[in-house]
Amino acid sequence: MLIKETDYGTPIRLSTNLVTLTIDGQEVTVPEGTSIMRAAAEMGTKVPKLCATDSIEAFGSCRLCAVEIEGRRGTPASCTTPVENGLKVWTQTGKLAKLRRNIMELYISDHPLDCLTCPANGNCELQDMAGVVGLRDVRYGFKGANHLDAQKDESNPYFTFDASKCIVCSRCVRACEEVQGTFALTIDSRGFASTVSAGQKEDFLGSECVSCGACVQACPTATLMEKTIIEAGQPEHTVITTCAYCGVGCSFKAEMRGTEVVNMEPYKDGQANHGHSCVKGRFAWGYTTHQDRITKPMIRAKITDPWKEVTWEEAINHAASEFKRIQAKYGKGAVGGITSSRCTNEETYLVQKMVRAAFGVNNVDTCARVCHSPTGYGLSQTFGTSAGTQNFDSVREADVIMVIGANPTDAHPVFGSAMKKRLRQGAKLIVIDPRRIDLVKSAHIKATHHLALKPGTNVAIINAMAHVIVTEGLVKEDYVAERCDMAEFNRWRDFIADKRHAPEETEKYTGVPAAEVRKAARLYASVNNAAIYYGLGVTEHSQGSTMVMGMANLAMATGNVGHIGAGVNPLRGQNNVQGSCDMGSFPHELPGYRHISTDSVREQFNAAWGVTLDPEPGLRIPNMLDAAIDGSFKGLYVQGEDIAQSDPNIQHVTAGLAAMECVVIQDIFLNETANYAHVFLPGTTFLEKDGTFTNAERRINMVRKAIPPMPGYADWEVTIMLSNALGYKMDYSHPSEIMDEIAALTPTFKGVSYARLEEMGSIQWPCNDAAPDGTPTMHIDKFVRGLGRFMITEFVPTEERVGPRFPLILTTGRILSQYNVGAQTRRTENVAWHPEDVLEIHAHDAEERGIRDGDNVAIVSRVGETSLKAVISERMQPGVVYTTFHHFGTGANVITTDFSDWATNCPEYKVTAVEVRLSNHQSEWQRENALFRQASRRINKAAE
Ligand code: SF4
Ligand code: SF4
Ligand code: SF4
Ligand code: FES
Repeated sequence: MLIKETDYGTPIRLSTNLVTLTIDGQEVTVPEGTSIMRAAAEMGTKVPKLCATDSIEAFGSCRLCAVEIEGRRGTPASCTTPVENGLKVWTQTGKLAKLRRNIMELYISDHPLDCLTCPANGNCELQDMAGVVGLRDVRYGFKGANHLDAQKDESNPYFTFDASKCIVCSRCVRACEEVQGTFALTIDSRGFASTVSAGQKEDFLGSECVSCGACVQACPTATLMEKTIIEAGQPEHTVITTCAYCGVGCSFKAEMRGTEVVNMEPYKDGQANHGHSCVKGRFAWGYTTHQDRITKPMIRAKITDPWKEVTWEEAINHAASEFKRIQAKYGKGAVGGITSSRCTNEETYLVQKMVRAAFGVNNVDTCARVCHSPTGYGLSQTFGTSAGTQNFDSVREADVIMVIGANPTDAHPVFGSAMKKRLRQGAKLIVIDPRRIDLVKSAHIKATHHLALKPGTNVAIINAMAHVIVTEGLVKEDYVAERCDMAEFNRWRDFIADKRHAPEETEKYTGVPAAEVRKAARLYASVNNAAIYYGLGVTEHSQGSTMVMGMANLAMATGNVGHIGAGVNPLRGQNNVQGSCDMGSFPHELPGYRHISTDSVREQFNAAWGVTLDPEPGLRIPNMLDAAIDGSFKGLYVQGEDIAQSDPNIQHVTAGLAAMECVVIQDIFLNETANYAHVFLPGTTFLEKDGTFTNAERRINMVRKAIPPMPGYADWEVTIMLSNALGYKMDYSHPSEIMDEIAALTPTFKGVSYARLEEMGSIQWPCNDAAPDGTPTMHIDKFVRGLGRFMITEFVPTEERVGPRFPLILTTGRILSQYNVGAQTRRTENVAWHPEDVLEIHAHDAEERGIRDGDNVAIVSRVGETSLKAVISERMQPGVVYTTFHHFGTGANVITTDFSDWATNCPEYKVTAVEVRLSNHQSEWQRENALFRQASRRINKAAE
């Protein structure tokens, strides 16, 4: 069945003051501020409309929604007229019918009459309204001045703009402004000549448009239309599922024809995205059926051999016998596994269970190691939970928003749009980032303070802010006394009040003027609702965990934890990075962040799994690679992660992989790590399986199978087969049974089940007897650990120092159109926006080196060298260069070092001392890797 959400015409109002009126003789009560149109829709009466839709404020231009109100003259527009107590409204009268027919007649006289062959046929509001008002004839004919020859803009890879069908309702313009916050569209000219325009005479692709799709969704006609629907036709059924890209976790309607996806439309009832999307989730799903998909299992004896396609049975038995052989020869601890933050909770749970129960070791880790492991450590030390404190909607009540080391408009775009909306309403913004990210200054947004610190000095800045708050009497003493451990607080107060933390002292490391830090600290402390949002620019440092604790200290000192509009919120990178951590993917923690050395916890799992778990934590990813190079670690199972592209110091990673005797990769494509593998198990995309993802707000969202798994099995089924072949029996017939086991063994998931998820749409953990409907805001009355704990956060500069050989600092990040290692987005039309990784460099640094915009440059660190194109960028400060890591050939992580966070080993991706110089050739690594890659990816196909 095709799911069509109700369009109430105008946005919901949340006032607690209620208003009662009568519409068509029926009484209805709604919140104050609601439009008459919406009040009517809530009682089931659809007033005809064209220019209104409930994702944007009403505009009142088409007049089709006119109504009559007793005692009032004229026919007011119901979309712009608010309800009042006692109003008597009529929506269907002879006068209104005539008026509406006249309006429709004018619209249709300037509209192509190709309804039967139009791609929107059957899903067009103009067509519907012509029917609703009973239009039978157009008295003006079709020969007058019209727009029927207007040119089509097909520049955007994903949607077309056919101006001949535009009714200039401006829903697209308002969606771009209000929902997305990009302000890319305008209505050019006036009256009959008015047209929708993307920027100053540019086409969509060349404009400011970020291809979020909000305008396409808002358009009531076929003017803005998805190319996939134009090609495949209107969908015939819907599967509601969750985006598999970033940690926002947007809900989507996969709109299907049979087993073919024709459109991904953001789901209005999605509790994380409320019907909005970004270019990745909305449009970049073509990779799921890309010709590069590997759908048959493969094995080989040596990594220089060609791959051989085999049956599932052969591949699984081979992998299992290799792991058993290695354990028999080198000891139990010679093998391990890596879970994926891309896979479902259920799949991740099974992989860690297999490693602990079937391998009998705790050598399990996850890609969160290299992104948000300091979040887990830092927030659990201070607050008692390894997760963010709020839901996304909380930002609607923030008065000050502090964004630290995150770039939400690129990496978490739907949340970025929600944040921008709040900023346009007047919330103040502080950005702490070495780069001038979009949020610092963009359409109708301007940061009050941008603290453009030197990379690696986060802790110095946060300490300086805390120093100001403590020494200027800005601490919320009551809150601290009531909610926090006073002995720890007093210790911290003495520490932070020391003058070495004063902004005037830290300025010499951070480069940020002391006065700016003081003003930012005062602003943060001056309101009741100040919220911190942070990303990998906080965690991926040698002091990542210290910085997380520094932010938590600041939030506690100012009373900004435990209520809506405040909090400390990690913006998680991958779709299920929160879930993979929750599911016990770290070597020292069982599901629910319970330490493996705790006897009572282990006993619970021993009893449920029928094993005796090792009380000692196992190896982390970097330790596994070091042990492989030392010769004591020989076998690795990796599900859905590409450590040979994503992890730092690639040459060290690949040396570790090459030293192993059995590397088993489970993925959808032959990734870079698979170049070093002996067994390849084809994986499935989010469209091919059931399960759940947990987003950055701790929200557990359903993932539903829309198409059959291309390799024949979903990933969770493959792990079961492998575990069984290893001799540890697993028996589940559906992921819901795995979730039942997770809920039984994990206190924070106790109330979670597929039935509850179906009923509620999604659930934010903790969900248990104390919070049966989940927990949108954490630590409301008290911290999870009891009393909030202030931690000492001494600033220790990273050992990675600039000097004469490497005078610049390289910092890395992501951009909007590409995702992580690019395996998916590179296989979509998103390459139109980012065909290659480039090096952003400040004009001053470029000039010193004779580098012009577009030149090829070599970038060298003490661990490696690569080459790429230079782009001179105003975003950069002198002395700092920036690149992305979306393309394997660039090898950005050949340069990053293996310095890491002191507490969690999270790599220091954000600070690498480098030199940049002009170059006309590829680096040695690039040349050798290209040759090895080519040789290692040959496949001997099985006869069909
Ligand atoms: S493109 Fe669509 S939404 Fe925009 S003005 Fe034209 S008809 Fe309205
Ligand atoms: S796709 Fe998004 S950014 Fe582009 S014009 Fe439409 S609403 Fe604006
Ligand atoms: S914001 Fe994130 S979850 Fe939402 S559509 Fe974009 S990539 Fe997907
Ligand atoms: S829908 Fe109300 S004026 Fe257009």
